[in-house]
Amino acid sequence: MRAYEITQAFGLENLKVVERPRPEPGPGQVAVAVSAVSLNYRDLLMVRGHYNPRQPLPLVPCSDGAGTVRAVGPGVSRVKVGDRVASCFFQGWSAGAVPRDKAALRSTLGGPLGGTLAEEVILEEGGVVAAPAGLSDEEVATLPCAALTAYSALLRQGGLQPGDTLLIQGTGGVALFGLAFAKMAGARVIITSSSDEKLERARALGADETINYKSTPEWGKAARALTDGAGVDHVLELGGAGTMQESLRAVRAGGHISLIGVLAGGAAKLDLTPVLMQNVRIQGVLVGSRSDFEAMNRAIVQHDLRPVIDRTFAFDEAPAAFEHMGAAAHFGKICVRVG
Ligand SMILES: NC(=O)c1ccc[n+]([C@@H]2O[C@H](COP(=O)([O-])OP(=O)(O)OC[C@H]3O[C@@H](n4cnc5c(N)ncnc54)[C@H](OP(=O)(O)O)[C@@H]3O)[C@@H](O)[C@H]2O)c1
Repeated sequence: MRAYEITQAFGLENLKVVERPRPEPGPGQVAVAVSAVSLNYRDLLMVRGHYNPRQPLPLVPCSDGAGTVRAVGPGVSRVKVGDRVASCFFQGWSAGAVPRDKAALRSTLGGPLGGTLAEEVILEEGGVVAAPAGLSDEEVATLPCAALTAYSALLRQGGLQPGDTLLIQGTGGVALFGLAFAKMAGARVIITSSSDEKLERARALGADETINYKSTPEWGKAARALTDGAGVDHVLELGGAGTMQESLRAVRAGGHISLIGVLAGGAAKLDLTPVLMQNVRIQGVLVGSRSDFEAMNRAIVQHDLRPVIDRTFAFDEAPAAFEHMGAAAHFGKICVRVG
């Protein structure tokens, strides 16, 4: 079977197709014939060597995949051959709060564990969920990381309520799932983007207010003005340190910031006074558990939510898919067709 590997060194030029023996599942494991994969910004950072420069190589990248169970190992009872499944980002987080033990925290696909950008992948039986009915392979493949992160941030940890105002940064994968879940919950959404054309497309998906963060560098102030000066109830913080100061200008007293991404950097000089003076809650978010993935999928089916896919690349074009993500010209998710 064919797989992509980051070979001896990091860098997109070292992402190569290799032939590997077809893997067989051990006790408690399943072999999944992968049909589609979606990319996350983390996968790009991993390939470039910016996510964990000490990650041992070679590594099959990517955490998110959809496919069909081809074989099951001894003792497997949760799934059977022929089931349509999606991978779980964490192979060892079944339910409840974020695990305390390091092994479970390190059970993530696409580093440290081998990932999904391959024709077959071995997963734990507890590391897959049933694919939601009615979605294509590519649509299922968009769910494990980006969708679950937005769901965890807004509906599990953030307690988003109908009538709340949510500020979302950008129009990438997590952002557009955030928009979809917010609309599902009856919230008002202010979305930012570097592109007026993308903002128009976000409006067509239900965004109530839009701000171009390039032409309006003080977009936090602008977002606050859109709430009659009160501030937004919730922020999906995807930029990280580089955007947090504006997020703190936008959020209301007692509001909530879900700290998810580092698109604008992981370190910066920040004035944290508003956090205490305004009683702001900042919550780190780390994808989510299998049980929450299953709950999210029930909501997706119930509300007929369709993930936004920017473009699907053929398996042979996977390096171009990573380049496309690096160019940040996409709107929503980028997928790779595998089988
Ligand atoms: N903590 C977790 O569990 C978790 C899970 C998933 C993702 N993440 C993180 O969340 C972030 C987003 O991931 P993703 O996969 O959704 O990425 P993505 O699809 O590549 O999103 C990229 C988009 O983000 C927007 N963006 C970039 N810089 C920005 C800035 N300074 N201000 C506002 N928007 C900006 C741009 O939108 P426009 O083109 O519209 O400007 C860009 O197209 C990444 O940092 C990723 O590592 C974390």
